[in-house]
Amino acid sequence: MKTELSFAPLAAIQTELLAVLAADAQTSQESGAKPQPVLLSADPVLQAAANAVLSNGEFKAAANEILLLHAPAGLAARRLLLVGLGKQSKINLNSLRNAAGAAIRFLKPRAIRELTLVLPESNPQILPHAASVRTAVEGAFIGDFDPDTYRSDRRDQSIQSLTLAAPAAADRAALQTACAEGVIVGESQNFARTLVNEPGNKLTPTILGQRAAQMAAEVGLHCEVHSTEKLHELNMGAFWSVAQGSAEPPALIVLRYEPQGVADGPVLHPTGKDPSAEAPLLGLVGKGITFDSGGISIKPSDNMDKMKYDMAGGAAMLGAMRAIALLKPRVRVLGIVCAAENMPSGTAQKPGDLQTAMPLAPGKPGKTIEIINTDAEGRLVLADGLTYARQLGATHLIDAATLTGACVVALGMINAGAFANNDQTWAQFETALAVSGEKFWRLPLGDEYADMIKSDIGDIKNTGGRWGGAITAAEFLHAFAEDTPWIHLDIAGVAWVEDSKPYIAKGPSGVAVRSILEWVRSF
Ligand code: BES
Ligand code: MN
Ligand code: ZN
Repeated sequence: MKTELSFAPLAAIQTELLAVLAADAQTSQESGAKPQPVLLSADPVLQAAANAVLSNGEFKAAANEILLLHAPAGLAARRLLLVGLGKQSKINLNSLRNAAGAAIRFLKPRAIRELTLVLPESNPQILPHAASVRTAVEGAFIGDFDPDTYRSDRRDQSIQSLTLAAPAAADRAALQTACAEGVIVGESQNFARTLVNEPGNKLTPTILGQRAAQMAAEVGLHCEVHSTEKLHELNMGAFWSVAQGSAEPPALIVLRYEPQGVADGPVLHPTGKDPSAEAPLLGLVGKGITFDSGGISIKPSDNMDKMKYDMAGGAAMLGAMRAIALLKPRVRVLGIVCAAENMPSGTAQKPGDLQTAMPLAPGKPGKTIEIINTDAEGRLVLADGLTYARQLGATHLIDAATLTGACVVALGMINAGAFANNDQTWAQFETALAVSGEKFWRLPLGDEYADMIKSDIGDIKNTGGRWGGAITAAEFLHAFAEDTPWIHLDIAGVAWVEDSKPYIAKGPSGVAVRSILEWVRSF
């Protein structure tokens, strides 16, 4: 999708379709009367063109409501699209992201290939211009995605051109930057979604490694993809225990981003404060199970097909690394994806087996893990991934994984679960969430939960029983992150959109790419 800005007068813009936003106005407290929806453009020609449907109640400006008008009087545009933002008092950048996506998704099946979206003019505090441009572009790219790679009836319905119409007086350079940023973020999220959509036979660990390497070459990231030999060399006994049952070899994907002028050792912190602090190295670790059958503790066949998306955490890390490479924050970042297939076979690990995780330092002992359930495999691959990130010098860790069904039980498919062993790091992540607009809900950690995964025969066991399953899984990871500031994202419930929304297709969501990116940029 070609994306650009226009500063021309709205009425003069020649386009297939001009989209303008409207808000559902608040009922007057004195009279109780319901005023007509408010068009978020002061342009008198636009106001006149939309007035009839705003005043007669045909268009109520509910969130993502859409009304198409043909041949609008006084406008050079062939069509005028009204897009609702919902209740005026509730409008924020998320409403705009969704509305932009809803406009795109309205056009896609209708053979309209270009649109011009009018930037909202009122509410400069709630919808600042630059942030609005970035967010609207993100939303447009998110809306443009459909998981139709393998559909032979696919008629490349992507939107060809998106123009954002901004006031002539706007800070043009700032808006251009914001627009370019929106494209990078939207495309990176869609890159992750494309990977998550791939079936298990089309995206083995090896192929995921190839896709990562190809992306890295395109955006200028350093990339290494290792397999079985390296797992043995590093004594990654937990990661290997999952991979050993599959005919497909595992892939240990390691990406590195080095900002220019930020060397190892003490440097001036980007904010100018704390010059004595060591340059942070952020470790991003993703679960990349390309198919999770459960292994010997095999899953029921209902919905087992869904377990092709068990690499969504790894894909989120790859998407975030792509955006990082292009947006160039001033912080070093390491991206690790632990990719394997969890299969039952004669070589598969068994319940009751004892595994030894990777040691933090070579020669030191690794933690011993009693395998209770081979279906709790994500924490096993992540244990070694987190340890490897720490061994490579990560000062801060974030992991993302479709880790537990228990998290879905706790939070449904609305919020993803989040855990942190450090309140300051969590506060920083929360600030990132305000920009990303993604919903993560912090769940607790605690020693009593850690006690639930103590093993009789080893240091730790890989499941803690039925209750608090998302938390005991997080405590398992905590045992490997230890005191390194760490955030764990359990995206099991939100990595796949089960019901399409006006602004997003059913299928992979690409969740966590934006939040991880913003967290990285906050260093
Ligand atoms: N990949 C699953 C978790 C999952 C469930 C992801 C639903 C997406 C949707 C994970 O590997 C798993 O199987 N977890 C088990 C853990 C249990 C055996 C302790 C679970 O949640 O049932
Ligand atoms: Mn599993
Ligand atoms: Zn899994």
